[in-house]
Amino acid sequence: MAQLWGGRFTKETDQLVYNFNASISFDQKFYRQDIRGSIAHVTMLAKQGILTDSERDQIIAGLQGILKDVEDGTLEISSKYEDIHSFVEANLIDRIGDVGKKLHTGRSRNDQVALDMKLYTRDEILEIDKLVKTLLETLLKIMEENLDTYMPGFTHLQKAQPITLAHHMGAYFEMFKRDRSRLNDIYKRMNTCPLGSGALAGTTYPLDREYTAELMEFDGPTFNSMDSVSDRDYVIELLSAMSTIMMHLSRFSEEIIIWNTNEYRFVEIDDAYSTGSSIMPQKKNPDIAELVRGKTGRVYGALMSMLTTMKGIPLAYNKDMQEDKELTFDAIDTTKGCLALFTGMIATMKFNNAVMESSAKNGFTNATDAADYLVNHGVPFRDAHGIVGQLVLYCIEKNISLDEMSLEEYQKISDVFQDDIYEAISMETCVKKRVTIGAPGQDAMKKVIAASKEYLSKN
Ligand code: ARG
Repeated sequence: MAQLWGGRFTKETDQLVYNFNASISFDQKFYRQDIRGSIAHVTMLAKQGILTDSERDQIIAGLQGILKDVEDGTLEISSKYEDIHSFVEANLIDRIGDVGKKLHTGRSRNDQVALDMKLYTRDEILEIDKLVKTLLETLLKIMEENLDTYMPGFTHLQKAQPITLAHHMGAYFEMFKRDRSRLNDIYKRMNTCPLGSGALAGTTYPLDREYTAELMEFDGPTFNSMDSVSDRDYVIELLSAMSTIMMHLSRFSEEIIIWNTNEYRFVEIDDAYSTGSSIMPQKKNPDIAELVRGKTGRVYGALMSMLTTMKGIPLAYNKDMQEDKELTFDAIDTTKGCLALFTGMIATMKFNNAVMESSAKNGFTNATDAADYLVNHGVPFRDAHGIVGQLVLYCIEKNISLDEMSLEEYQKISDVFQDDIYEAISMETCVKKRVTIGAPGQDAMKKVIAASKEYLSKN
């Protein structure tokens, strides 16, 4: 047991208490951020005349040595320290002697951990954003290749109107684009530096907080020291943004699972992204999509835990807040893993275009267009709706699609129909005529694809 605060204690900490209290097993994850913060802190202390230049140089060299040794595996982060902050400080003192004891001048672990957590999540926001961007690029490629791949669009999971695969993928493109914009917002809002807030009430040293903020590429220092050490809003916001990403991935996974069934056969997941059964030789299961759907619960759970942990905490720092780390680390790793695997899965997935097109035709997705045909020939919409209803019933009885009816059969139900009805209800026409921006028509989709390309080139 190695503690920074033994001075006022006469007894050793109970071993169970020590284990319960310690955070080194998980906060070792931010040893880089901790060292970076310490380097910025001593650089500032020297600039302010609180440390000499020589003290600064010794401390920085010592910290850099620790970083290098941890990176190359020569120095193991030992669980005999309470947390990563104690580990770094104790190692520094071992290396450079008493001058290392000056590192913590004008600083508390409260502002230190607040800084480390911000630096860590800030880096991870960029990593998550990169993964979402790769997913968007993959989606855009599928969109460009499938402007004419017809498929049914659904409402209530019932076939509704014809769309294209490009249009369907485009819906997810928009969702994940919003996810990126949420990440970007969080980054901007959180990007202020808590270092220099001390335990809760600042310090009596003439720290230059603007300077440390600048050294670590923050927009500036935070404005209230009590808030700074106890603010975890950005963690909650990030967990919320990741929950939304996971919700989108989960919806998408659900569709892929359905599309991959024998009943649908819209897609075939690549062998590299499927798994088999230990007993049923014929099986090829969409486990990756199912796991992504399943792991969504973990990320939601982290969000609920964090909200609940924070809800009763009086100002300023309280140890409850140590609970932010494990769940945030897990949620970040889960979200990143899911994004990477999901992108790989859809990039290699085969779309069965012919099956999708015939599914659209056989599900009367062109019924609205048949009614519009009648309206264009002067029939009031409500009557047209009724006539097409009769056509559908007739087709269901004969087990055919609308385009398989003969003209005589059409005219028996309404003599308004002429032989241009076939063109009017073809998948090509149904889609092509949907020209408003946001609709599946190729002209509209091409504009959206061009705008999406431009977005990706700029963001
Ligand atoms: N391990 C602590 C945490 O994660 C570091 C801050 C400790 N501060 C304190 N006053 N005990 O929150």
